[in-house]
Amino acid sequence: MSKCLNLLLLLLLMFCLVYQSEILPAENPFISVSGKKRGNIRLRCEHEDDNIVHIELFTRSRVINVCETEECRGRVFKEGNCDVVIKNLFFSDAGKYTLRIYYNNDQTELKYRLHIHDEISVKTGEELKMSVLVSDADKVKTNSSGEWKEIWTRDHGVQSDRMNDDNDGNLIIKSFLDSDAGTYRVLDTEGEILITVTITAGENTDPHHSAPKLWSWVETFLFGFVTSVFFAYIVIIAVQFLLIFAGRI
Ligand SMILES: *[C@@H]1O[C@H](CO)[C@@H](O)[C@H](O)[C@H]1NC(C)=O
Repeated sequence: MSKCLNLLLLLLLMFCLVYQSEILPAENPFISVSGKKRGNIRLRCEHEDDNIVHIELFTRSRVINVCETEECRGRVFKEGNCDVVIKNLFFSDAGKYTLRIYYNNDQTELKYRLHIHDEISVKTGEELKMSVLVSDADKVKTNSSGEWKEIWTRDHGVQSDRMNDDNDGNLIIKSFLDSDAGTYRVLDTEGEILITVTITAGENTDPHHSAPKLWSWVETFLFGFVTSVFFAYIVIIAVQFLLIFAGRI
């Protein structure tokens, strides 16, 4: 009877182990971090241990030089035990990162997915250049028309004749229209969002806006002119009176 119970417990234990090992890898292993372009970001390692010997940060394609303190020149430096701060973010910083932490006799890895966002305002008729075609970019979508549409793909380039792309990774709208305002998303090959740019149509160079400026200039001029003439007139009259008065004496 007890043998049977032991066997049952053993089976249950095995089931739990298998179940857990099936479940864990299915979880998203990436820690999502979002930062604003030109802002700073912190990749938190959340390790209290003091015996961390060394950390390494790398992307799929390169190892990133992590400075030991903020004083050194790089944009990327270590803070606290093993947090990594990236300063003055570029769109090209978006993507996946691995932080490898070495202990005295062990090591662990943390994975991050860095999303960069920006909010800009563009005037009608202006050229808009967005440096969003970063190396991991696979697609660009926008909802400026009210629904999500693909406007660029890695394989086929731009999908609209009002746009260009160049070899420096820029997506260019030659002459911005108010109807281009909306959210632009850059996705990687897995469909994860790397970059979000929110574009609003700015106040502008519209002739109705510049007219009051010209008008107020004319107004100021006229007002100044009329006032000067009025004062000159008063002075002349006063002088005449004085002369007449002086003549009588
Ligand atoms: C685009 O999507 C964003 C959020 O994802 C929303 O706030 C915005 O109103 C949408 N714009 C248009 C033009 O549909």
